[in-house]
Amino acid sequence: MPVQSQFPSSMPAADDNRTPSPQSPVLSRDRLMIEYRNADETTAALPTGQDVTVGLTQTPKTLPPKYFYDDQGSQLFEQITDLPEYYLTRTERQILETFAGAIATQVGSCDLVELGSGSASKTRILFDAYQRQGQPLRYVPVDVSGGILEESARALLSDYGTLTIHGLVSTYEAALSNLPATDLPRRLIAFIGSTLGNLSPQQAQQFFRRVSESLTPGDYFLLGVDLHKDTATLTAAYNDAQGVTATFNLNMLSHLNWRFQGDFELSQFRHVAVYNEGDRQIEMYIESLVDQTVTLKALGLTASFAAGERLLSEISRKFDPEQLAQRLAAFELDVTDTFTDEHCQFALLLCQKP
Ligand code: AVJ
Repeated sequence: MPVQSQFPSSMPAADDNRTPSPQSPVLSRDRLMIEYRNADETTAALPTGQDVTVGLTQTPKTLPPKYFYDDQGSQLFEQITDLPEYYLTRTERQILETFAGAIATQVGSCDLVELGSGSASKTRILFDAYQRQGQPLRYVPVDVSGGILEESARALLSDYGTLTIHGLVSTYEAALSNLPATDLPRRLIAFIGSTLGNLSPQQAQQFFRRVSESLTPGDYFLLGVDLHKDTATLTAAYNDAQGVTATFNLNMLSHLNWRFQGDFELSQFRHVAVYNEGDRQIEMYIESLVDQTVTLKALGLTASFAAGERLLSEISRKFDPEQLAQRLAAFELDVTDTFTDEHCQFALLLCQKP
């Protein structure tokens, strides 16, 4: 199955030597298009480390959560989603299974633009609903990883005989500022998986503005968020008994070691995750166990840690659906439906631009 690229890219392409899908490869050619957007920014997504230098030289220290996701980190996150304490992924999947039909009926035939599509395993629930209803759908996955995007697109084409895909290897910003033209009646932008929780309130506002600006009246926005709840349930989800979340958190240091020639000793740090009830966010830290200095050769950077000093590696915000609806309304994103589970742990907000 050949893949059309509008622009050359430095992102690695997936292997092209697997056996073609049982569906017609000729048909597949017309059904799959992968476009590399904004080559400069996508290359910058293979990071220069400027953000690491800034984060490690400020007080308190902080690092961007994107550094969790090297291959090892992505695998560890997959493991997290199966943990008994980590209710988020399975609850969101349940909600989708219950309400995908209602979403498909309400939104109708559309371009489904998914920001941060990854393996698209939950999105399949929406594809199933569209297929059952016989409503045409074009999938527009957006991801900075060209390899993952291609791999999941090929799998989807062979599993969904009527699906067409126009993938964008791109940052969210570059994708939203220029979405591909569509022949279908409307667009649905999906941002599920509670990734919104990683953004500061300011970043979230900026993000809503961009989403709203990219929609035309009648278009939809589907947002998946984790909800505020008792501290015990929340802290357990980020302090699992098997220690997978701890490994995931500390893996950020291994990632920095190989990417920037660092010498972090993982055994000299520990994982900490607490719920800040005032700000309604899980705060995940990497805490230094001793006084130590760390060097990242590729960045020409040496950072000192005091014993007990904490570096903020992630915030994961927990929302109140009504408050969130108000914030969305400020950007002309009117919540038409709030779908939740029986324990109101997680929510999917369907919004429409009036
Ligand atoms: C992928 C951002 C939704 O915040 O729960 C899981 C990442 N961090 N365990 C989350 C994460 C620690 C996750 N998100």
